[in-house]
Amino acid sequence: MLADFPDWAQHFTEGAASPGSAWRNLALGSIGLDGAPQIRTVVLRRFSGLALDVHTDARCTKYAELRANPAATLHGWDAASAIQLRASGPARLHLGDAVAAESWAGLREQTRATYRVRPGPGTTLAGPGNPAPDTTDAEAQRVFCVVRLEIRKLDWLHLDRGGNRRARFSWVDGAVLAEWVVP
Ligand SMILES: Cc1cc2nc3c(=O)[nH]c(=O)nc-3n(C[C@H](O)[C@H](O)[C@H](O)COP(=O)(O)O)c2cc1C
Repeated sequence: MLADFPDWAQHFTEGAASPGSAWRNLALGSIGLDGAPQIRTVVLRRFSGLALDVHTDARCTKYAELRANPAATLHGWDAASAIQLRASGPARLHLGDAVAAESWAGLREQTRATYRVRPGPGTTLAGPGNPAPDTTDAEAQRVFCVVRLEIRKLDWLHLDRGGNRRARFSWVDGAVLAEWVVP
């Protein structure tokens, strides 16, 4: 970590490792197919290097949005430490590849079952409810997608009675630029 700048990475490391962490459930922003901003809660599954991994179903709207436009942002807020993080960059969609297979292998049966439901997320139902899982594990794996956001920009904001602080990081060709900015 850069001397004197905040260690933002520790929060994502904690979120990926601890289900109870404030950094576990993040908000994923994408560009809607109609150009309007879209946002939803997702679970941070892995953080490695500058890559943030989230799991999703390839039949859902966010998959179509990110395929059309990979620009994405993950947002988190921890009330206890009064820190907000916003990480932005291109999201790569790993479907049916080695990255997806490795993540699928680590999933519990209960989690896998959510991908065994037909029809896909967002399909209109005749009434409230959720169809029972009825496809095979192999079919479920075909719609299991790892969304991997490669961080190119990161905004750190700390609210504090003694003075709010904000830092901005950006990465170009492997080099990082860090700067303090007016909160
Ligand atoms: C606490 C929480 C965690 C969630 N985690 C995920 C997740 O990891 N992946 C996912 O695709 N949807 C997750 N969802 C559901 C999404 O927020 C969203 O409702 C769903 O994926 C459909 O989004 P879309 O139509 O924009 O694709 C979660 C919802 C909540 C409330």
